[in-house]
Amino acid sequence: MVYPIVVFGDPVLRKRGQSIPLNSDIAALVSDMFETMYAADGVGLAAPQIGKSIRLFVIDGSGLEVEGEDMTGFRKAFVNAEMLEEFDEFASIEEGCLSIPHIRDNVKRRSHLRIRYYDEQWQLHEESFTGMKARIIQHEYDHIEGKLFIDYLTPLKKKLLKGKLSNISKGEVRTEYRILAPLKK
Ligand code: NI
Repeated sequence: MVYPIVVFGDPVLRKRGQSIPLNSDIAALVSDMFETMYAADGVGLAAPQIGKSIRLFVIDGSGLEVEGEDMTGFRKAFVNAEMLEEFDEFASIEEGCLSIPHIRDNVKRRSHLRIRYYDEQWQLHEESFTGMKARIIQHEYDHIEGKLFIDYLTPLKKKLLKGKLSNISKGEVRTEYRILAPLKK
């Protein structure tokens, strides 16, 4: 099942996601989230983006070509993820978000991280990631914390984006995927 994607302005994108009760049945939801992400041509999707305020996100970066990095097999569901550490030098990379269509900007983030999470079979993992993999995880992790990449932009840039963001909230934006806009009349 493909969900519509909730866009900027919806309060669900600003809430911290609830933990999912251990061993609950999430197979169908995880599969729907991958399907929704592929339908929108995304590399990551977090549950708040389909209107669910829970700690779940999916990533498939395996099709990305990244210089100096092997993205093969980077397809995962992160359940009840907990960021343990973000460290090392900052990198500035352009990001976008399915919930903020047609807006892209550079975001400065740490280049290494350590994270603890369950997969969709409720196996616990503790892993380190760097580079583009870390970047995608940080972006999706922010979603389950109620944060968006535009929060990192300078006040001036945010001001310049105000009109565009307001149009997105009203659903006045063209997308190749179905959206749910909070202020659509
Ligand atoms: Ni996003």
